[in-house]
Amino acid sequence: MPEDPAEPAPPAASDWSAWKRLTRLAAKAQRQGFLANLLEDAERGRALRLPVGGVLFDFSRQKITPEVLGALLDLAKERHWVARREALFTGAPVNATEGRAALHTALRAPASRQPPAAGEVVVRSRQRLLDFAESIRRGDRTGHWGNALTHVVHIGIGGSQLGPQLVTEALGGTGQPLKPLYVANIDGQAIGAALAAVNPETTMFIIASKTFSTLETLANAAAARSWFLERTNCQDALPRHFFAATAKAEAAAEFGLPPDSIFPLWDWAGGRFSLWTSIGLPIALCLGETAFKALLAGAHAMDRHFQEAPAHDNAPLLAALIDIWNYNFLGIDQHLILPYDHRLRRLPAYLQQLITESNGKRTRRDGAEVGTHTAPAVWGGEGTNGQHAFHQMLHQGTRPFTADFILTARPQHGCNEQHRWLLANGIGQGEAMALGWRSDNPHQAAPGNHGTNTLVLDQLNPHNLGALLAFFEHRVFCQGIIWDINSFDQWGVEFGKRLAKRIYHQLGDGAALPQDDATRALVAHLKALNGKAENHDPSGQ
Ligand code: F6P
Repeated sequence: MPEDPAEPAPPAASDWSAWKRLTRLAAKAQRQGFLANLLEDAERGRALRLPVGGVLFDFSRQKITPEVLGALLDLAKERHWVARREALFTGAPVNATEGRAALHTALRAPASRQPPAAGEVVVRSRQRLLDFAESIRRGDRTGHWGNALTHVVHIGIGGSQLGPQLVTEALGGTGQPLKPLYVANIDGQAIGAALAAVNPETTMFIIASKTFSTLETLANAAAARSWFLERTNCQDALPRHFFAATAKAEAAAEFGLPPDSIFPLWDWAGGRFSLWTSIGLPIALCLGETAFKALLAGAHAMDRHFQEAPAHDNAPLLAALIDIWNYNFLGIDQHLILPYDHRLRRLPAYLQQLITESNGKRTRRDGAEVGTHTAPAVWGGEGTNGQHAFHQMLHQGTRPFTADFILTARPQHGCNEQHRWLLANGIGQGEAMALGWRSDNPHQAAPGNHGTNTLVLDQLNPHNLGALLAFFEHRVFCQGIIWDINSFDQWGVEFGKRLAKRIYHQLGDGAALPQDDATRALVAHLKALNGKAENHDPSGQ
């Protein structure tokens, strides 16, 4: 890892000439007013605005000059991005540490464009899922007691929750036949709140877990099943009210689910790339088959763009290259996601997992240290709320950042005046971050010179949302190509799970295990507070 990230060492992999050119170009871009000068050049701006279907990708507020763009495109060539893209789409084992493909693109491809590695199982399973959801939406398929199902409790976490929740809350609107409730945390408050809000006779439960082994999800599923049986005292009712979306059908069967209550997904569909699979069942239930297919079609259209557009017109690639420029040459280590649309308030959390669980890595594909910084901190919040929370730091703080503003041009509500204010703020904030503002009073000046992207959806509909999410998936993949890392595994999370198991037993009656002083003192403190140990001094004396 380089001593000073602002002075990035060329990656250990090779003596990349483009990397060295970018290092030389970086110093100039840091000068005060650099971006303001760039923004006076309309010709330059036009080359950095890419309309792709119903979304405009505007990179013009980034510190990108023709020289920088040329070196970034050379960098992509040096990393053989075209061959890596081909490997992704054809089902090669791009997830080498798990020996798997990453074929999320097959999940939204029509039958005519299914790669052999996926086969026809994707299309067949997709239609079974949609037929099931439509039968419930129409009321043809009811609960055990003949009542229409009006609520769906979706039990899942991470990629098994964030995607469905983002999409149903973004596109759900009012008047949907089923109301979704999402339960992720192992904190009993979460499942308790959901169960308190539903009637067992009109509620279906989805256990969404690719591995069917995630602690939180299994604990919540067991709690839901116990609650259901206590309330109904009817074991025979379970198959009409409990369903699973999983790659481990045998584990779901052991839970007590019959085959036709189990909807498959596959090892080559990564968790954070899985909303397009049966993990997206709540989307089909709440929004219907037409919307689900439009979401897939939007993502597929972005897949085609990513596959076919030349590098200089390729939105996911360009966005990724600009990210590399920001993170590895301009010393930026935080990336804000700022959706200026209340319906996209969950987008920051979704992208936080997609980006940081994919690229929060320190090891290259060959096992060597990556040699430069990889994924930054990803956070954010809906606009305009953030302007009354953390934008102060962005405008007058000391730390560099970049951001994605996401705007929707046309509202679906009737408050056009308010929507105009929303858009004015979204555009204005990006302008202020780029240009700053002068004042004789140093307390009231802002330096600006912060580059940002602006993504404008013509409207928020399933097609455009699908395209937007696929754009981010491919952007993450392209970042990983440049860093030469595996964007599709997540070994760091497995380690954390093991630590919890040790401490869980010690918080109960388990024997004390050798461990560091801080952990030992905290375990003792909690046990004392929960009456499992006496004469305890909180200071750890
Ligand atoms: O965070 C680790 C992780 O495996 C994610 O990648 C995944 O989305 C989540 O946990 C849930 O995993 P599962 O769907 O197997 O329950």
